[in-house]
Amino acid sequence: MTEFANRVEQVSISGIREVFEAAGEDAINLGIGQPDFPTPSHARQAAIEAIENGRADAYTSNKGTQSLREAISTKYDREYSLEIDPEDVIATSGGSEALHLVLEAHVDPGQEVIIPDPGFVSYDALTHIAGGTPKPVPLRDDLTLDPATVEEAITDDTAVFVVNSPANPTGAVQSEADMREFARIADEHDVLCLSDEVYEHIVFEGEHHSPMAFAETDNVVVVSACSKTYSMTGWRLGWVAGSNRRIERMLRVHQYGQACASAPAQYAAEAALTGPHEPVDEMVDTFERRRDLVLDGLDDAGLEVPTPSGAFYVMPKVPDGWCDEVLERGVVVVPGDAFGANGEGYARLSYATSTEDLKEALEIIDDATTAVR
Ligand SMILES: Cc1ncc(COP(=O)(O)O)c(C=O)c1O
Repeated sequence: MTEFANRVEQVSISGIREVFEAAGEDAINLGIGQPDFPTPSHARQAAIEAIENGRADAYTSNKGTQSLREAISTKYDREYSLEIDPEDVIATSGGSEALHLVLEAHVDPGQEVIIPDPGFVSYDALTHIAGGTPKPVPLRDDLTLDPATVEEAITDDTAVFVVNSPANPTGAVQSEADMREFARIADEHDVLCLSDEVYEHIVFEGEHHSPMAFAETDNVVVVSACSKTYSMTGWRLGWVAGSNRRIERMLRVHQYGQACASAPAQYAAEAALTGPHEPVDEMVDTFERRRDLVLDGLDDAGLEVPTPSGAFYVMPKVPDGWCDEVLERGVVVVPGDAFGANGEGYARLSYATSTEDLKEALEIIDDATTAVR
C-alpha cells in the first residue's frame, strides 16, 4: 500500500492560518505578512500589455526572460555593486520557490540546515521536504543572529546555514560586520550560506548588506522577490542568484517542477525593477512611522521589545496567556512559538495595516496586558 513520504509527514500546515481562522470577522489583523499597498501601476500595466499583445501566452526560458534577468543583474550592480551575470539567476514562483530550489539542490538526507529560531516558518518545513534535518539556533537578545552561534553549530553534516535580514518574524537587521562574518564562515567551513533577502528594501536604520558581497568563494546564494518590496505577494515572482554551477543544479529542480515562473508576473516584475522607485520609498516611510507608533504603544503597555530596523514586524516579549487575551479582545497576533521553540514567550505583530487600526489595536493591547499581569 502506498504510504505518505516521511519527509512530508514531518511537516504540518502553518499554525499562523489557524490563528486567523480563530479570530472573528471584525478582528484587527496584526498577523499579516504582506504590505497593505497596491502593486505600483507601472508594474500592473506591463503585465496587462504583455497579456494583450500575446507576449505572456507562451513559456519563457526556464530561467526566466532574458530582459528580467538583466534587470535583476542591473539591480545588484546598482544597489550593492555586486556583479551577477544574468545567466546566474533563476526567476522563480516567489521567494518561496527560490528557497525550495536552494535546499533541494544542496541538501542530502541526513544533512543539517542551520536555521534561526525564531525564524521564518518555511526554513524548517522546506528542510524536511528536502530530506534534511533542521538545526535551529537561538538569537541574540536583540533578536539578531550571532555568527559565532552559527559557527559553533556547524558539524561535518552541515549543508546549509540560513541568514535572513531584515528578518521575519523579528524585523531585525544584521550589521555589515555580521554579514562579513557569515561570508567568512561560508568560505572557511565550505558550507553554503542561504541569504534570504526578501525584505532587503524595507530598512529604516543603516543599510542592507548581502553576505554575497563579502564572500571569496561561491558559497553564498541570494534569494529575493518582488513580493514585499513592490507589494506583489499575489504575483508570485522571486529569484535566486548564485554561481553558475549552483544555478545549473537548481535549474534541474526548477525545470521539472515549475518549467518557468508565470510569464505575466515576469513582465510585471521587470517593470517594477526598472521603473520609478517612489512607491517603494513612500511605503518604507509609512512603515517607519507605523513602527514608531507601535513601539511607543508597546512601551506604554509596559512590554519589552528590541527596536526592529526593518521589515514590518515587531516581536515583543509577552506574559503568559497574553496572545489568547489579545485575540479574545479582537486583535490577531501570532504567538512566537509558531516560529520555533525559542519564540515561546514572544509574539509577532505585523504593522502592515492602517494607522487607524494600529491605534485601536494598541489600546486593546494595553488593556489586555494589564489584565494578564
Ligand atoms: C523571510 C521570508 N522569506 C521568504 C518569504 C516568501 O516570499 P514569497 O511571498 O515571495 O514567496 C517570506 C514571506 O513571508 C518571508 O517572510
